[in-house]
Amino acid sequence: MTIELKLSNEIDRTNDQFTSAVKQQLKDLTKFSDLALEWLMMEHYQFSERNAGFLLTAVNTTKQFKESGVSKELKRNFNEEENHSIIYKKSLLEIGTNVDKHIEFTPTTEFFATISKLIATCPSCTLGAMYATETAAIFEHVVFRDISYTIIKRREKNWEKSRLKAFHDMHLNGVEQGHKDGLGMFIDLAEEHDFGSASESLNEQLIRKNLVINGANQAIDAMIVWWKALLTQTENMK
Ligand SMILES: [Fe+2]
Ligand SMILES: [Fe+2]
Repeated sequence: MTIELKLSNEIDRTNDQFTSAVKQQLKDLTKFSDLALEWLMMEHYQFSERNAGFLLTAVNTTKQFKESGVSKELKRNFNEEENHSIIYKKSLLEIGTNVDKHIEFTPTTEFFATISKLIATCPSCTLGAMYATETAAIFEHVVFRDISYTIIKRREKNWEKSRLKAFHDMHLNGVEQGHKDGLGMFIDLAEEHDFGSASESLNEQLIRKNLVINGANQAIDAMIVWWKALLTQTENMK
């Protein structure tokens, strides 16, 4: 008997492959300079800063679904994330990192452009892409919690009482898992549908399996390219 994997699990599996590889490369943080780790953190902050906007775009794009739950879930996610980049910025300043001194890194800009495009029009692609990025968010908070710990210790600041520890812990204690599961529920409702079904008018689009997979894979591919560039740059700053 073959057990068919749920679609959310299939996407998770693809995501795991790439996040495990990145984690492996960042396993030994002692070999990276403070400058390199700080730079990486500032790039992650850039994503945090853009994230609320992505969520809002996704809220609008998924309004085209007959299933109104997807857009509502993304709105709930947006409400939670709306002020996070402000907290992140403050937390970084507290340990001596000023994100305003950041210089644009082209691969990050290109990554954002790819995600923006992916979530602009097609609701099923948007659902897949947002599920993939929310899944990767868990891995990002794990990785950046370790990086934050390393930097704080090197700078001889207090880790336990830091805003930065609280920021990552809050995300890892349920927030990101909630975002992933909240969308995962709808990912698993996706089915194969013929195109041009007469009942499918403008705001009554169905959750199409092939487009959900497509959106997720494109988002994962974009994250792979982005992380590869991030790690190459970090290595070079060693
Ligand atoms: Fe957040
Ligand atoms: Fe999230």
